[in-house]
Amino acid sequence: MLAQSDLEAYARRIKSDVFARLSQVIDPELGRSVTDLGMITDIEVEPAGIGPESIGGPTQPIFDVTVYVELTIEGCPLTATIAERINTAVTSYPKAILRPRQEVSSMSQEKLSGLVDQLKAERRANPFTKSNSKTRIFAVASGKGGVGKSSVAANLAATFAALGYDTAAIDADIYGFSLPGLFGVHSQPTNLNGMLMPVTAWGVKLISIGMFAGAERAILWRGPRLQRSLEQFLSDVWWGEPDVLVLDLAPGTGDMAISVAQALPNAELVIVTTPQPSASDVAVRSGLVALQVPTTVRGVVENMSWYDHEGECLRIFGQGGGQRVADQLTQALDYQVPLMAQLPLEPSVRTVGESGRPAVLRADGSLDSSALADQFKHLAKQLMESGASAQPE
Ligand SMILES: Nc1ncnc2c1ncn2[C@@H]1O[C@H](COP(=O)(O)OP(=O)(O)O)[C@@H](O)[C@H]1O
Ligand SMILES: [Mg+2]
Repeated sequence: MLAQSDLEAYARRIKSDVFARLSQVIDPELGRSVTDLGMITDIEVEPAGIGPESIGGPTQPIFDVTVYVELTIEGCPLTATIAERINTAVTSYPKAILRPRQEVSSMSQEKLSGLVDQLKAERRANPFTKSNSKTRIFAVASGKGGVGKSSVAANLAATFAALGYDTAAIDADIYGFSLPGLFGVHSQPTNLNGMLMPVTAWGVKLISIGMFAGAERAILWRGPRLQRSLEQFLSDVWWGEPDVLVLDLAPGTGDMAISVAQALPNAELVIVTTPQPSASDVAVRSGLVALQVPTTVRGVVENMSWYDHEGECLRIFGQGGGQRVADQLTQALDYQVPLMAQLPLEPSVRTVGESGRPAVLRADGSLDSSALADQFKHLAKQLMESGASAQPE
């Protein structure tokens, strides 16, 4: 039997052990530990007897542990996740039986603005321009609209996430935004004192102008500032440091790609085209921006290449466009621009996509075992493996 003074010493030790364990508990939105963020304001440890909590278990002292938690955002959708992570950190303590309790309140405005200022200062304006940034940035571009650029961007991002990469995506097609629909996002980004949290859907951290209330009106009204939307997405959104950032660019051959290259010097272009000559001509032009700005065209994806009609392969939109774009860009840019995928016309891309789930995923969020999902997996792999050696001078 432990003496009272021993128990008190033990309780003090548990208090510091629990604090150390909580320093490993990561806030899912900010990607920092709850102790770093100042969310844990106190821990109380009270001896509560000795026992096996369950019959037959080893005899151990029992303590009631109260963790005082200050949330950054009241009613934040991830509150339950944070609470669960904190409880797990407490109950999994190996040396005693700890019974967790939480006293939850919200951070004061003053403390919150201090925290946000600190995070902003650390992050600097646009986190992706740091020379040591580990984030691979794939900007999905096409000359024309309607070729499946957003579908490719959404499925590619979902594939990266399902493969275990920390993945972010920006819907940079301000007028024709479609990522919220394709990811089934109906919620707004949380605003933490002027810093926005991306919305996570199907494992991807997403931001799109379409997530903001009255988006259509806001766009008209913001007209002259439109070019700056991308910069705002980059600087006002808390991205952490993802492994991959996928951008769905607006269609076109000019301004958009140039502003992307300026805002994101590490961005690599992925050109989407359909097989017919009219689409591939414009697609080549969208890749040629790489002659004007220092960006690399990483590869070409041909979409709607064929349709499997009861085992017969129908080339509805003709053929050869993707290879042509790859060849012409290889010649013009003087480095290898491969045709990385030829994707079928596949009704599920549209139907599942419209239901709010990228077609490569199963309903439980795992990567499907379909031929289409395999193609995206292969594309993701090629993109991740491309790089340093294929970099132009
Ligand atoms: N491989 C595909 N098979 C079937 N439908 C597709 C495929 N790719 C795109 N679509 C459909 O074609 C339409 C245009 O695609 P979208 O991705 O919005 O193109 P973009 O972003 O280039 O304008 C959408 O209705 C989409 O569901
Ligand atoms: Mg689109």
